[in-house]
Amino acid sequence: MLSGLHLLLTYQCTFECDHCFVWGSPWQSGVMTLENIQHILQQAQDVGTVKSIYFEGGEPFLYYAVMLAGVREAARRGLQVGIVSNSYWATSVQDALEWLRPLAGLVGDLSISSDLYHFDEKQSQLTENARMAAEQLGIPLGVLSVAQPEAACAAGSMGQLPAGESAVMYRGRAAEKLAARAGRQPWEQFTECPHEDLREPGRVHVDAFGNLHICQGISIGNILTTALAEICQAYDAETHPIMGPLLAGGPAELVRRYNLPHEASYADACHLCYEARRALRARFSDILMPDQMYSVPET
Ligand SMILES: C[S@@+](CC[C@H](N)C(=O)[O-])C[C@H]1O[C@@H](n2cnc3c(N)ncnc32)[C@H](O)[C@@H]1O
Ligand code: SF4
Repeated sequence: MLSGLHLLLTYQCTFECDHCFVWGSPWQSGVMTLENIQHILQQAQDVGTVKSIYFEGGEPFLYYAVMLAGVREAARRGLQVGIVSNSYWATSVQDALEWLRPLAGLVGDLSISSDLYHFDEKQSQLTENARMAAEQLGIPLGVLSVAQPEAACAAGSMGQLPAGESAVMYRGRAAEKLAARAGRQPWEQFTECPHEDLREPGRVHVDAFGNLHICQGISIGNILTTALAEICQAYDAETHPIMGPLLAGGPAELVRRYNLPHEASYADACHLCYEARRALRARFSDILMPDQMYSVPET
């Protein structure tokens, strides 16, 4: 049952983190308009099961006025609202209060990312400023931290990731920039998708062009041209040319099914899946898109 829509307000970002699975960058294109947001929110309501809307990206605070209007509209429609941000705007507590004040009472989850991909210290001062301002305003704030590749390697052999940190998924820019620092496993071992419910996704991402992503770079339709309810109804994972093999035997089956060239080992299931999809892009250009999810396209 589809319960959450994550709006990628823009692919643009203040940063270019090495681990970024949406290839966020100052040089990216693609920004959602308010008209598109209203259309998407209406579609979400028409489906009947969507309860929460997240505004993320890229960096959603780059288009603050549009994000705020979208937040207000989602809240007005009775939807739970969340935001995911890198907190670049929280220059001081006083400044952060100004950025956050209009969101108070509307946003039920402000997720701030802070780790060694975003900043040169795990808990950045910006994040601390955002945390203090959110506390004063009564906005629930959580911190998202992704572990370094070496920490995940160590966790693999000895036990646990550092407290509060999650493992990097080697897709998007992470596949290109970080996979070399990761431990490797034989490709045949990646026999399932460990992260997404491919058969009945609970949440999906909508990008600035209207593409509905089950996982970053796997689109099952365009919400600006086809009704969300219709896309959901028409979606049949078993017969889908990418989801079918993934469900049958994970990324390894995707490689076998299409007889793709491959290396002996990969960092994780996402890494093999992402590389297999890159090889299949020309063949399934209406699914494995847009270009923004596979690089920072030259303009
Ligand atoms: C793509 S960012 C967009 C919002 C905002 N710019 C930010 O960084 O919080 C959303 C979240 O995805 C996380 N993320 C990005 N690439 C990832 C990857 N390869 N594996 C795990 N998490 C990732 C980021 O760390 C961040 O917490
Ligand atoms: S993880 Fe967030 S902050 Fe980093 S480049 Fe991607 S979108 Fe930007």
